[in-house]
Amino acid sequence: MSLRIAVLGAGGRMGQAVVNAIGDHDELILSGALVRPGSTHVGRAAGPDVAYTDQPVGALDGAEIAIDFTLPQAFNSNVTACLEAHCPMVIGTTGLSATQKIRLRDVGRDLPLVWSPNMSIGVNLCFHLTELAAAALAVDYDAEIVDEHHRYKRDVPSGTALQFGELIAAARGQEFDKVMDFRAPGKSRQRHSGDIGFSAVRAGTEVGKHTVMFSSDSETVELRHRAMHRGAFADGALRAARWLAGRPAGLYSMTDVLGL
Ligand SMILES: NC(=O)c1ccc[n+]([C@@H]2O[C@H](COP(=O)([O-])OP(=O)(O)OC[C@H]3O[C@@H](n4cnc5c(N)ncnc54)[C@H](OP(=O)(O)O)[C@@H]3O)[C@@H](O)[C@H]2O)c1
Repeated sequence: MSLRIAVLGAGGRMGQAVVNAIGDHDELILSGALVRPGSTHVGRAAGPDVAYTDQPVGALDGAEIAIDFTLPQAFNSNVTACLEAHCPMVIGTTGLSATQKIRLRDVGRDLPLVWSPNMSIGVNLCFHLTELAAAALAVDYDAEIVDEHHRYKRDVPSGTALQFGELIAAARGQEFDKVMDFRAPGKSRQRHSGDIGFSAVRAGTEVGKHTVMFSSDSETVELRHRAMHRGAFADGALRAARWLAGRPAGLYSMTDVLGL
C-alpha cells in the first residue's frame, strides 16, 4: 500500500537519509520536504515533483505521515503544524526539554505519534535486553553508559543514552533524576551505590555507539550497539511510519512498533 510522507528537517543528515530511504521503496512517496526558514535548500528539488520548502503548511499538503528529524527549537512549530493538518508524526528529534516531552504526551491524545530517541531496530532490542539485565542484576551491579558520536552532535548525553538510563532506573525501582550522574570534568567524586553513570565521546564521524555496562566486584556484563550508517535510523523511522498509518491517536514508542 502506498504511503505519502513529508520529511521535516529534510536538509539535515537524518532528513537526507530518510529522503534517500524513501527513494528505495516504490510504495513510499516523498510528498513534502521541510527545511529551516530561509534555508538555501528552498526551491531546489528534493525528489520527483517535490521541492524543499520552509512553509510547514505546504510541506504537509497531501502527507499521510510526517517524519521529523529536526532540532528541539523546531519541535513546537512542527507539532503545531501537524496538529492543524491532522498529520500523524514519527519524531526522532532528541534533546527535547521536560516541557516538550509533556507536550508530546498531550498531543498524543489527539494525534498518532511515535517518538523514539533511537529508531534503530537493534537499539530497541538492546533497550529490551537492558531492562532484563537491570532487573536481574539490581543495584548490586554498578551501571555505566557510554555514548560515542560524531563531532557535530549537539546534545550530551545522547537521547539514547538517557533512554537506557531511564529504563535501568525504572527496572531497579529508582527515580532516574536522583541517580543519574553525568561524569564531566571537574566533577570528581566517588560513585554512590545505585548511581547510573554517563560519559560521552564526541569525535570524528562515529554515527552512534552505545555501551551499557553492569559491573560487580567479580564480573562485568556489557551490551553494545553500533550503527554503521544513518540508514539504520531511517529504516526504523520508515517501519514506524508504515506501522502508524491508520492507528488511533496515542503516543507510541518503537517498542510498540516492533511488538517487543
Ligand atoms: N531518533 C533517532 O534514531 C535519531 C538518530 C540520529 C539523530 N537523531 C536526532 O535527530 C535530530 C537531527 O539530527 P541530524 O544529525 O540530522 O542533525 P542536523 O544535520 O543538524 O539536522 C537538523 C536539521 O533540522 C533543520 N531545521 C532546523 N530548524 C528547522 C525548522 N524549523 N524546520 C525544518 N527544519 C529545521 C536544520 O536546518 P539547518 O541546517 O539549516 O539549521 C537541519 O537541516 C537531532 O535531534 C538528532 O539528535 C535521532
